[in-house]
Amino acid sequence: MVTARITVNGKEAPIAPAAPHTTVLDFLRERGLTGTKEGCAEGECGACSVLVARPGVNKPTDWVPVNACLVPVAALDGQEVVTSEGLATVEAPGTPPVLHPVQEEMAVRGGSQCGYCTPGFVCSMAAEYYRPERCAHADRGPDATAGADDGDSGDTEHGPNGFDLHALSGNLCRCTGYRPIRDAAFAVGTPSDEDPLARRREQDPPAPVATEYRQDDSAFLRRSTLAETLRLLRERPDAVVVAGSTDWGVEVNIRSRRADCVIAVDRLPELRGLRVESDHIEIGAALTLTEIERRLDGTVPLLAQLFPQFASRLIRNGATLGGNLGTGSPIGDSPPVLLALEASLVLADADGEREVPLADYFTGYRQSVRRPGELIRAVRLPLPLSPVTAFHKIAKRRFDDISSVAVAFALDVEGGTVRKARIGLGGVAATPVRALATEAALEGRPWTTETAEAAAEVLRGEGTPMSDHRASAGYRAAMLGQSLLKLYAQTTEAVPS
Ligand SMILES: Cc1cc2nc3c(=O)[nH]c(=O)nc-3n(C[C@H](O)[C@H](O)[C@H](O)COP(=O)(O)OP(=O)(O)OC[C@H]3O[C@@H](n4cnc5c(N)ncnc54)[C@H](O)[C@@H]3O)c2cc1C
Ligand code: FES
Ligand code: FES
Repeated sequence: MVTARITVNGKEAPIAPAAPHTTVLDFLRERGLTGTKEGCAEGECGACSVLVARPGVNKPTDWVPVNACLVPVAALDGQEVVTSEGLATVEAPGTPPVLHPVQEEMAVRGGSQCGYCTPGFVCSMAAEYYRPERCAHADRGPDATAGADDGDSGDTEHGPNGFDLHALSGNLCRCTGYRPIRDAAFAVGTPSDEDPLARRREQDPPAPVATEYRQDDSAFLRRSTLAETLRLLRERPDAVVVAGSTDWGVEVNIRSRRADCVIAVDRLPELRGLRVESDHIEIGAALTLTEIERRLDGTVPLLAQLFPQFASRLIRNGATLGGNLGTGSPIGDSPPVLLALEASLVLADADGEREVPLADYFTGYRQSVRRPGELIRAVRLPLPLSPVTAFHKIAKRRFDDISSVAVAFALDVEGGTVRKARIGLGGVAATPVRALATEAALEGRPWTTETAEAAAEVLRGEGTPMSDHRASAGYRAAMLGQSLLKLYAQTTEAVPS
């Protein structure tokens, strides 16, 4: 057995004897690093956030906060982790640690009461503190007065120091109240040149290592190439594939699922490309949603609308498109968007690759044409993109919630006429579906109030919505119609009657 090791706060440690399903959270706490807390064990509260050194978007390394409760520690073989304990620095042996600037701001601005959520908040906050794009735009130093927007920009989600409050969207606090936490976030300055974690960004992150971690009868395996992984999958058709583990981690923690063999695909280079060609964009299935968001930087507006509404920043730092499509969930948020974009999937197995339109991929509730031993390697989006797009996610909360209904539109409107309409729906059938009847009701018609109202009526009848704890069938149908009227209002500023 190859020894699996992880570096935590600068010190290397063996992962053994942890079981292969052991989470990073349990591993850390078992080692006495109890700053990392368990609140929910299902990715909802952020009390367990830790920083991982990952390939950077604009620097060699980014410090990326993830939910330690969802990630198996074996997935971080060879990787570097920093916990809330590792943020403070000890300047001389025997002296008390000096608080990290984000810890200092949380303390002096009253951002912590019981303190249970605080280590998770400071890890998410530290990641934003070190985010190179924020540092480049920060216009104030550490003495900045906290405030949302100086009164004139109207932007309540970014601080004068460039701090993006969405960085904290996966962290919950039930006693302090969010204003002092926001004050702390909006008061942090930029890292000094001597800051060790800032300097660490200039070096490459640890390379992924092939992992063969076995305890008793279960194993966590990672191969270095796609070809090796596909051969392994052929040998182990019983294996569970994981990428970011944001779905699988919940299964392990909440539903006590265990797998004899888990195979990691999140660091395979063949699944992590992003290429813009003349007639399509290819997005690797194992890029995280945060990586896609930052690397596309708005070039696919419909995806840019999806990302902020998908879970929280903490989840998006792990979640992948491969995982969202791989589960086959009818309420995943990416399928409606990818259907509207007419995406196809590149599926790979040990015999080669095939390309399948996403519209033909889902065959039933959590079922697809993907064969055993086949992986989603990439998602392809044909170009050019339709210019009129919108993603409407109807959920009980504005952020970090599962969809009741999700609707994605991509329309070509030329000379006042709808030339092409593609509409993807989630949450209204056993699979994500295209709204084919509504598309037909729009195409070739003038983009007018009458057309929008008639098509909205058709859209209300699409799918076979069910009543469940999230929404009734009637509400779901009503929301479909409203969604098209909202799109019309947004694109024309006319409000249908
Ligand atoms: C708190 C929380 C909030 C969430 N909010 C949302 C939300 O708003 N919208 C939403 O859509 N989802 C949400 N999710 C679900 C989850 O984050 C997404 O489905 C995510 O995209 C899964 O990606 P992953 O890489 O983490 O998948 P993993 O958990 O690693 O894998 C899930 C499954 O996908 C399959 N798989 C993974 N990669 C591949 C591949 N390349 N090829 C084939 N199969 C593969 C495997 O069968 C695996 O078992 C949420 C989850 C949590 C915990
Ligand atoms: S313990 Fe709540 S997100 Fe991990
Ligand atoms: S300070 Fe108590 S939960 Fe946040």
